[in-house]
Amino acid sequence: AVGSVVGQLAKARGARAVGIAGGTEKCRYVVEELGFDACIDYKQHADVRSLSAALKAECPGGVDGYFENVGGYILDAVLLRANAFSRVAMCGMISGYDGQPIPMAAPQLILVNRMKVEGFIVSEHMEVWPEALKELGGMVATGKLKFRESIAEGIASAPQAFIGLLKGKNFGKQLVKLI
Ligand SMILES: NC(=O)c1ccc[n+]([C@@H]2O[C@H](COP(=O)([O-])OP(=O)(O)OC[C@H]3O[C@@H](n4cnc5c(N)ncnc54)[C@H](OP(=O)(O)O)[C@@H]3O)[C@@H](O)[C@H]2O)c1
Repeated sequence: AVGSVVGQLAKARGARAVGIAGGTEKCRYVVEELGFDACIDYKQHADVRSLSAALKAECPGGVDGYFENVGGYILDAVLLRANAFSRVAMCGMISGYDGQPIPMAAPQLILVNRMKVEGFIVSEHMEVWPEALKELGGMVATGKLKFRESIAEGIASAPQAFIGLLKGKNFGKQLVKLI
């Protein structure tokens, strides 16, 4: 859900946007409906080398900016393609939400490429909330920002919906409707 909005905002600002998602259906949606330039199905690339090669094909000029939602070998693969002075916005690390460690294979690439890596928590930026709502709301109203929701019915379905997030069963924002 977050990544789909980030890529559309990047496109709106003139960047080349390359998504990374799990499965052909999600990747097709990312390109054909959301308008990203490309989308890599990470499930077709089980290791860093393979994913990094796919990134090289879609980002021949390297990666200038990466919006991190996942961590793990996906981050490792992106770091291998990162340009000098590239930036990483650290939003989430879902690959570690089951409690497993999230090792980094080559953190020295941050040094070698003089990268800027910065974490953030959305609730600490409430001062720009009205501005963001205005931009995002306007884009939704004019059809420039598209989104999908997966809606689970009833509070009893919340645990299963949350576990589904960790397995990629949601398609777009996972909501639980209280009925
Ligand atoms: N910093 C903040 O303030 C803030 C605020 C809100 C959310 N977040 C973070 O932002 C990220 C995205 O949140 P969201 O609500 O937009 O979630 P989401 O993308 O709607 O749902 C999670 C998706 O992550 C993918 N995923 C799950 N386990 C994975 C794994 N081990 N490796 C790779 N991909 C995996 C699955 O997609 P596939 O089917 O494509 O694998 C799943 O559908 C999360 O990490 C969340 O914690 C941060």
